[in-house]
Amino acid sequence: MWPDLIAKSKEGGADVIQTYVFWNGHEPVRQQYNFEGRYDIVKFVKLVGSSGLYLHLRIGPYVCAEWNFGGFPVWLRDIPGIEFRTDNAPFKDEMQRFVKKIVDLMQKEMLFSWQGGPIIMLQIENEYGNVESSFGQRGKDYVKWAARMALELDAGVPWVMCQQADAPDIIINACNGFYCDGFWPNSANKPKLWTEDWNGWFASWGGRTPKRPVEDIAFAVARFFQRGGSFHNYYMYFGGTNFGRSSGGPFYITSYDYDAPIDEYGLLSQPKWGHLKELHAAIKLCEPALVAVDSPQYIKLGPMQEAHVYRVKESLYSTQSGNGSSCSAFLANIDEHKTASVTFLGQVYKLPPWSVSILPDCRTTVFNTAKVGAQTSIKTVEFDLPLFRNISVSQPLMVQNKISYVPRTWMTLKEPISVWSKNNFTIQGVLEHLNVTKDHSDYLWRITRINVSAEDISFWEENQVSPTLSIDSMRDILRIFVNGQLIGSVIGHWVKVVQPIQLLQGYNDLVLLSQTVGLQNYGAFLEKDGAGFKGQVKLTGFKNGEIDLSEYSWTYQVGLRGEFQKIYTIDESEKAEWTDLTPGASPSTFTWYKTFFDAPNGENPVALDLGSMGKGQAWVNGHHIGRYWTRVAPKDGCGKCDYRGHYHTSKCATNCGNPTQIWYHIPRSWLQASNNLLVLFEETGGNPFEISVKSRSTQTICAEVSESHYPSLQNWSHSDFIDQNSKNKMTPEMHLHCDDGHTISSIEFASYGTPRGSCQMFSQGQCHAPNSLALVSKACQGKGSCVIRILNSAFGGDPCRGFVKTLAVEAKCAPSSTTSSSQL
Ligand code: GAL
Repeated sequence: MWPDLIAKSKEGGADVIQTYVFWNGHEPVRQQYNFEGRYDIVKFVKLVGSSGLYLHLRIGPYVCAEWNFGGFPVWLRDIPGIEFRTDNAPFKDEMQRFVKKIVDLMQKEMLFSWQGGPIIMLQIENEYGNVESSFGQRGKDYVKWAARMALELDAGVPWVMCQQADAPDIIINACNGFYCDGFWPNSANKPKLWTEDWNGWFASWGGRTPKRPVEDIAFAVARFFQRGGSFHNYYMYFGGTNFGRSSGGPFYITSYDYDAPIDEYGLLSQPKWGHLKELHAAIKLCEPALVAVDSPQYIKLGPMQEAHVYRVKESLYSTQSGNGSSCSAFLANIDEHKTASVTFLGQVYKLPPWSVSILPDCRTTVFNTAKVGAQTSIKTVEFDLPLFRNISVSQPLMVQNKISYVPRTWMTLKEPISVWSKNNFTIQGVLEHLNVTKDHSDYLWRITRINVSAEDISFWEENQVSPTLSIDSMRDILRIFVNGQLIGSVIGHWVKVVQPIQLLQGYNDLVLLSQTVGLQNYGAFLEKDGAGFKGQVKLTGFKNGEIDLSEYSWTYQVGLRGEFQKIYTIDESEKAEWTDLTPGASPSTFTWYKTFFDAPNGENPVALDLGSMGKGQAWVNGHHIGRYWTRVAPKDGCGKCDYRGHYHTSKCATNCGNPTQIWYHIPRSWLQASNNLLVLFEETGGNPFEISVKSRSTQTICAEVSESHYPSLQNWSHSDFIDQNSKNKMTPEMHLHCDDGHTISSIEFASYGTPRGSCQMFSQGQCHAPNSLALVSKACQGKGSCVIRILNSAFGGDPCRGFVKTLAVEAKCAPSSTTSSSQL
């Protein structure tokens, strides 16, 4: 996916790609490095370079990032005497070794800018300032050490520390947040950098899906450059998928879509991508003035309105920039509610609430952050055909050449609820989870035996009580099995467990399965965090009182049998003893499922719909596509979304009352045309017959542009601001575009006049140019993209004098090959 993602970023106006380096991905075993496949960072950096973009490499090596353990390899915990992220010799040794490894690798591959490569900046640590006070003086010493250590690596490009107000002199401290215009670096000699503009947010299992309106993001970015910003990075511009068990936590979902301008599947999120592209173009039109002036001139325009002006002295301007504007300005209205009329250099400007207008020549508004002219795209994850239903060829669903989604049959295999390998061991006491699993699996089986006397049984019967399993504190999931039956589950982050259980006279098998769902990735003292149980683990309510289970002998078994036998790989799956699954079989817990499926035709990204399942993990052709879980988001909290005012992560959330994630991305590069092996491990029970493979694409696009909108940013150049005549000739335009490989198959709605409603609900207003549909169809149908000028003459004259006319269009996109390749 990398070349396409990089190309889409460049087209969106990015100059620099920023990426973290994931230590635990690159060094899964101490001193055994992995720079292959998805971890081939050299290849990635080279691709960025060859596409003409720069790169900011955030080495960390602590990175946070909703990534397992914040990027730390779990083996780091086992180094004697280690304390993370503080003045601790064992930690500093390991950190230095890894950072040096990466810097040396980049240098060897000639990837720094002074070597002709794309890397212009590095990062050491990550938001350490947020936790520094927890470490006292040793924290302060660590910051100084980290800075010195980084510099001594002689990378020859600047280093940043984000959220680090006390960053030493030679390191640039940078801002992370939803807004950073009010941030100032800790020295006037440092540029104002914004390393993370959170243009969306991540989601947790059972949480709502965060969305940040593009008008507010554009406002935040424009404000940053208005107030002297020099480098800004979207976090995330593309977030993608946390495949395997790389999602952090606790409880972060597999998708890292982040509501980013490029969605999880690599498709553009519109209007986000398009509106920000215009913003970038507008800011770049101001470039000659922006780069020539150290700080802008501030002009108060009203109680909540202000201008910042970048004005180059004529002489300076003519020698430095040659062709361009000598004056650029940003006009802001910070009022959350009202439009403001302001006078700036003798002209009146209307500023919508919570918006910034950009004037590259201090006169002409080329962009306003709150006015979105970019197209909206509505994506469908289509073809609701379960993998396994008998569909006769005559059914209409088959017509569109989608027969390929149907595999043959499902096979099943039970996971043993007991020890399954010689690797088990027995010891007295309750062990900490990660000390045993080393995070090689989410799962730790803990098995013991409870002897129940006849007196206990009669005690329970007489008092009508049952014994209770009680654990002081537990994370993330506990499954409790008594005599082979799953009798309870507890989910939470360090929560108390009180679970009544039924025991029989004599020996009872008690199995406690502790699970992690992504290791903690944020905060101080991660090495001490651990998982599993804390405090007392006991059974209460016996005749003689309590049983302290830490005095018992426990047998420990790490992981699932199927997981360690790798029955999800093509070779090993054949050796396992699968049996046929009959349709209608009742849901079964702790069960493996396998099938084969054909890839959907065409090039669209592929999604696996696991909405019928419970919780588990999935693999395709041996690739771990991630954890899945149909945990449902709260019903409430998804109200109307107003872009105005400060954003916070619960504002504008969507998907209330639905599972947080049901679609799981299967990259095309992991698929072959047919016979793809799909293996699932299911914990709580689901119906595999309802699983389907779908293809994701943008099927509907809409746009609305009025004749008062600014002309298309693509048509401006610096010289236009000198030649006033060419400026007058420019008209607003509507740009429509289907995903690559798709064309506009039909225009569903078009009205030039005073149309009403919004995408998929447009209707004609009182004023309507009768030839709207015909004209738009002629310009767009059958094309991958088209441009329509918003001008009376383009629609056969003014349909209603005295009104501001708007063109609203809704179009359908379809694969370019649909008509030529329909075989059915
Ligand atoms: C920041 C952190 C990032 C990421 C982000 C939230 O604090 O630096 O790595 O975790 O929060 O998505």
